[in-house]
Amino acid sequence: VTALAPLGQQMAPYACQRRTPLLHSNQPLTEALETLAEEAGFSGSEGRSLAFTRAASVLKALPGQLSALEELGPLPGIGEHSRRVIQDVLEDGVSVEVERVKLSERYRTMKLFTKIFGVGVRTASRWYQEGIRTLVDLQERNTKLTRQQQAGLQHYEDLNTPVERGEAESIGRMVQEAVQRFLPGASVTLAGGFRRGKPRGHDVDLLLTHPEAGREAGLLSRVVSWLDSQGLILYQHSQENSFALHEGPEPPGGRDVLDRFERCFSIFRLEVQGRPGAARGWKAVRVDLVVAPVGQFPFALLGWTGSRHFERELRRFAGHERKMVLNSHTLYDTRLNLFLPAASEEEIFQHLGLEYVPPTQRNA
Ligand code: GTP
Ligand code: MN
Ligand code: MN
Repeated sequence: VTALAPLGQQMAPYACQRRTPLLHSNQPLTEALETLAEEAGFSGSEGRSLAFTRAASVLKALPGQLSALEELGPLPGIGEHSRRVIQDVLEDGVSVEVERVKLSERYRTMKLFTKIFGVGVRTASRWYQEGIRTLVDLQERNTKLTRQQQAGLQHYEDLNTPVERGEAESIGRMVQEAVQRFLPGASVTLAGGFRRGKPRGHDVDLLLTHPEAGREAGLLSRVVSWLDSQGLILYQHSQENSFALHEGPEPPGGRDVLDRFERCFSIFRLEVQGRPGAARGWKAVRVDLVVAPVGQFPFALLGWTGSRHFERELRRFAGHERKMVLNSHTLYDTRLNLFLPAASEEEIFQHLGLEYVPPTQRNA
């Protein structure tokens, strides 16, 4: 028996304690586990889904390519089932279970439907149970759709074509230009996957703020109306700020508070030149716009940079290890009964007693 280097020996238990680069050496393994995570999510098994996601996330942080299960050692966060899948892929190149899932009618249909903007697992599941299998079925049966889902269906192909970094940057500039018209000095920051270094993504996440607290109020509706009047918006749904500090923090694991900023889910009409084979010179692109008052900006930036799993782990760490409540607005210390202000992401990590993890290492 060769001495196996215990690749996972020093792996910290929470993803927010680790560095997770965008590119890693265990892609086939993480893909297999993430397929099972997705499938579990489609079946409403959130716990099982999270277990597979955790296992995949651990593998993404390994310093090298795994060649035998034993190299993992007694790693935290990789359960029995995940180990079996890893072993199958290592030994046979594929996991029969994963391949079966990928071919199953239910998985394929759920994937097709959840890729419609505005369609979640519950809606997709209901349609599947009603015997609907294709996008054509949806239209032919006159299935009742929300305005958002109608837009999602109408732009299905574009919205499922990755957004390139250059496209995200031009949308950032379009928004910046609009913002300057109404509030000079306000800033627009590209968050989400692009901030983590991804070359392409499913949408563009933009965070707006102004260095003087309060000046940002009402900015979003003006910006969106103006962009709309220029014919640059194909769909938009805005929401007013519903966050009030005096309400105090929400309990850990409670309702997601990310939805409380002034924000807008939209579809932009982006001019594109020389798209090969395209009959038109524009492309529909999903854009999320969020406005944060400057005092909450570092929290909003941290919360909107992701990855989703990194965020979930940060909140879990804060709650379980520090008795603090972290969301995209604030950090609250339940032992001291006070909010911990921060002027930068670094300060939030400091409050949590965590080593700073730069955005490009948050691809958990
Ligand atoms: P791609 O867009 O596919 O490149 O990945 P992404 O990491 O940018 O994902 P996404 O745009 O969905 O979200 C970016 C981050 O913002 C996520 O990590 C979430 O933490 C956060 N976020 C965005 N929208 C929401 C929302 O509606 N609810 C919650 N809970 N979080 C959100
Ligand atoms: Mn995104
Ligand atoms: Mn988004």
